[in-house]
Amino acid sequence: MVTQSHVNVFLFIVFFQLLALSSGEFLKLPLLHPTPGPSPSEALSQDLRHLNSLLSRPPGIKSPVISGASSGTGQYFVTLHLGAPPQKLNLVADTGSDLVWARCSACRNCSAHPSGSSFLARHSSSFRPHHCYAAACRLVPHSPHGSLCNHTHLHSPCRYEYSYSDGSVSAGFFSAEVATLNTSSNRVAELRDLDFGCGFQVAGPSVTGASFSGAQGVLGLGRGGISFSSQLGRRFGNKFSYCLMDYTLSPPPTSFLTIGGVAKSSTDFRFTPLLTNPLSPTFYYISIRSVSVDGVRLPVSSSVWSFDKIGNGGTIIDSGTTLSFLTKPVYTQVLAAMRKRLRLPSAAPPTPTPAFDLCANVTGLDRKRATAKLPRLSFRLAGGVEMAPPPRNYFIETLEGVWCLGIQEVTTKGAFSVIGNLMQQGFLMEFDRDKSRLGFSRRGCSLSS
Ligand SMILES: *[C@@H]1O[C@H](CO)[C@@H](O)[C@H](O)[C@H]1NC(C)=O
Ligand SMILES: *[C@@H]1O[C@H](CO)[C@@H](O)[C@H](O)[C@H]1NC(C)=O
Ligand SMILES: *[C@@H]1O[C@H](CO)[C@@H](O)[C@H](O)[C@H]1NC(C)=O
Ligand SMILES: *[C@@H]1O[C@H](CO)[C@@H](O)[C@H](O)[C@H]1NC(C)=O
Repeated sequence: MVTQSHVNVFLFIVFFQLLALSSGEFLKLPLLHPTPGPSPSEALSQDLRHLNSLLSRPPGIKSPVISGASSGTGQYFVTLHLGAPPQKLNLVADTGSDLVWARCSACRNCSAHPSGSSFLARHSSSFRPHHCYAAACRLVPHSPHGSLCNHTHLHSPCRYEYSYSDGSVSAGFFSAEVATLNTSSNRVAELRDLDFGCGFQVAGPSVTGASFSGAQGVLGLGRGGISFSSQLGRRFGNKFSYCLMDYTLSPPPTSFLTIGGVAKSSTDFRFTPLLTNPLSPTFYYISIRSVSVDGVRLPVSSSVWSFDKIGNGGTIIDSGTTLSFLTKPVYTQVLAAMRKRLRLPSAAPPTPTPAFDLCANVTGLDRKRATAKLPRLSFRLAGGVEMAPPPRNYFIETLEGVWCLGIQEVTTKGAFSVIGNLMQQGFLMEFDRDKSRLGFSRRGCSLSS
């Protein structure tokens, strides 16, 4: 449906199209956290689903999309404007997957669809499904049933299908659309052909309902060629950054996902190398050298932190997981040290989900005094830098007056450790893909807003 007014809007956008960013300029997408955030038990069950799907690598798919990946249960949303005229979508920001996808509707008369509930393909004059023979179509996983191309159809579209380990699915047409983006100097940039999955069948607990918190899809920021960061990186500069603001704050602060350019606080950054694991080319791996609790280094063999020759193990940074997950040898040590150094009465773990191994009773203490009695965790990273997250990044309030250690043991064979989004709160994180390094700064967040 291309009405006259849509054509006009489209021309308007093309007219103002920005071909390149000027020096120091970068793209800014609002990064939000829905309120209320998930309860710790919800976060945990979402995370476990998410990690299971990260771990279930479908055999035989030789493409940058290795995992069919994210169940999209992360809790930070990016606002993306797609189509002509632009439609506003909230997508889960996920460094643990590659595909950008949005729930789509083929409605013509969409009065039954509240604005923003899905992408209305027929209301965009620039929507173009890829052909099933297009090179782009080989980059996405397809339905195991039915052949990819139907030779009797001239216009056979590229069908993708992402299945998750819990049976959830996002399936539809792999397509190209116009993305409209703001720059740091309040100009409008436009990417004419952003590849994304237009999801006509979206079903299952991982991608619908409460656990998805009203998002319309996932913004994959992984290392694969079809991710948002790869597609925009080729045009606007191959780095991105974000600051995940503390979501217990009220009103919830806004920050931005930025693409390209140089973050203002770059002098303040500490850097650690980003590693590539051929077994999981989507993920951003970092190398942890040691962990300390209250300044005492834990007796953990450093080999525990690295991935092996086959690619098992290692540690990833994932904005789409809420809690952090450590492999057994590390978790056991962290838990023992935390238990020993906690200067607060312990509390029984909350009953509906006795999933937390260490909880403190902070009844009668204000937040500041309770926080002062929590052990301090810090990670020594490759590059000789220290990451010392504030205690609220790893102790979470599970009930009124009960704070639990928000770190979990990951038991699956071949599994990796995950630094989730809670642990990253309050840091400006810069993924510099050209230099293969991760920059982080505790003072950068105020600059990114
Ligand atoms: C669109 O749907 C509304 C409500 O169902 C109806 O009143 C209207 O006539 C429809 N318009 C067209 C063009 O079909
Ligand atoms: C191709 O499409 C035709 C017409 O819709 C259908 O009858 C046929 O079964 C399809 N072939 C395959 C291989 O899906
Ligand atoms: C750009 O920024 C303006 C002002 O903050 C906002 O109203 C608009 O929705 C933004 N547009 C896009 C495409 O993000
Ligand atoms: C916490 O301690 C208070 C008294 O100091 C007690 O009444 C309460 O039951 C304790 N809560 C838990 C969950 O252990």
